[in-house]
Amino acid sequence: MAELQSIKARFGIIGNFPALNRALEKAIQVAPTDISVLVMGESGVGKEFIPKIIHGESRRKHQPYIVVNCGAIPEGTIDSELFGHEKGAFTGATSTRKGYFEVADGGTIFLDEVGELPLQTQVRLLRVLESGEFMKVGSSQVQKTNVRIVAATNVNMMKAIGDNRFREDLYYRLNTVQIDMPALRERKGDIHLLFRKFAIDFAEKYRMPELKLTDDAVSYLENYAFPGNVRQLRNLVEQMTVVEQNREVNSTKLAEYIPMNANLPAVISKTSGSGSSSSDFGSEREIMYKVLFDMRNDINDLKSLTSELIKSRGNADLSSQEKNLINRIYTPEPAQNANPNSLLYFENNNNSQQNQIHHPTIISEDNEDYNDVEDIEIEEARPESLSLQNNEKDLIIKALEKHKGRRNKAADELGISQRTLYRKIKQYNLEE
Ligand SMILES: Nc1ncnc2c1ncn2[C@@H]1O[C@H](COP(=O)(O)OP(=O)(O)OP(=O)(O)O)[C@@H](O)[C@H]1O
Ligand SMILES: [Mg+2]
Repeated sequence: MAELQSIKARFGIIGNFPALNRALEKAIQVAPTDISVLVMGESGVGKEFIPKIIHGESRRKHQPYIVVNCGAIPEGTIDSELFGHEKGAFTGATSTRKGYFEVADGGTIFLDEVGELPLQTQVRLLRVLESGEFMKVGSSQVQKTNVRIVAATNVNMMKAIGDNRFREDLYYRLNTVQIDMPALRERKGDIHLLFRKFAIDFAEKYRMPELKLTDDAVSYLENYAFPGNVRQLRNLVEQMTVVEQNREVNSTKLAEYIPMNANLPAVISKTSGSGSSSSDFGSEREIMYKVLFDMRNDINDLKSLTSELIKSRGNADLSSQEKNLINRIYTPEPAQNANPNSLLYFENNNNSQQNQIHHPTIISEDNEDYNDVEDIEIEEARPESLSLQNNEKDLIIKALEKHKGRRNKAADELGISQRTLYRKIKQYNLEE
């Protein structure tokens, strides 16, 4: 049985975190068997290494190894892609075609994003797992194939089963052995190692001196949640390698790329299949962070704009509606020495804070204190919808427009995998 270190060297896997080592060792152990394996873990954690190791360490290593991204294949064609089709089976089926399960006979198939498989395809897959049998689309002839199946997902399968999006019997067939890949935020000790690996790779690729981290930058990265995990770190290093003049990176510079306040207290939990409650769709978190992060930026911009406006116009002619709006934006803090004559507390109290607009207290002409804002309605104050769904949809449309429909570019821009983008496009009916 191959050594763990040699496997890491062969596949370019960086890291020494116990849960990572356990996952890799489990892959090495099950490789010589034909047991089906389900790899679980958030988006970008390195799940694709596992099927490569299993195939490479199995007696099937000289046979085909086929990777299928189930989330990237349109629902209408996935059966034909996986199982083939007879000539005339549907419009456009001008000739008989072999599917992946036929082509991979004797080898290994990696079904990435298996959680995205349509239910009717799940039935066909279950049959292959149970008996090695399948039928081409449009055929009634049963065929046999000898394929080892490794699947992966970042979806919470228990929830998908609960929502009838995934067959329980198929899940238990696929999950004969489960391998969990840890999230990057759990492997703090590996973050600097990975940064250095990617910095060397991209220094070579772009023929530039290698980026180096200062100590405070290392601890900055170790405290960041990395919702996009290793893929996000890799993209970050590539971007900084190309963009940054200074080869030494400190925490201030990092904060420009990955602001800590985007590092929201995530309700992060293992996407384990063993029934533990967890947030679903690791990838949705990625989009939500981006939406929340952008919204927070917008609000901050709004705040500074409003305070500029107030300062430029002075207090005198603020309408009560404007005062209400400002009051809603700024949560009042108990002002020790608030000057009732001055409408804008921070104005008089603390010059150094002039640029940092925190919490002005507004006292209206009728001396009414507006702390309890609940009962005040401000109609036109908030033009944009704050619904996460709307913002998410807008972001996806913007990214697709910016990249003229090129989904891989748009997915990169959004910091999500293509699969999630495909699913979102479907979810929001954004198909051309
Ligand atoms: N330990 C590691 N060492 C080196 N590179 C890594 C490591 N883990 C992940 N990567 C790199 O990070 C990227 C993302 O990994 P991968 O594509 O396997 O993610 P994934 O778990 O399949 O994500 P998704 O669920 O979005 O498909 C790849 O470029 C991979 O090579
Ligand atoms: Mg993947």
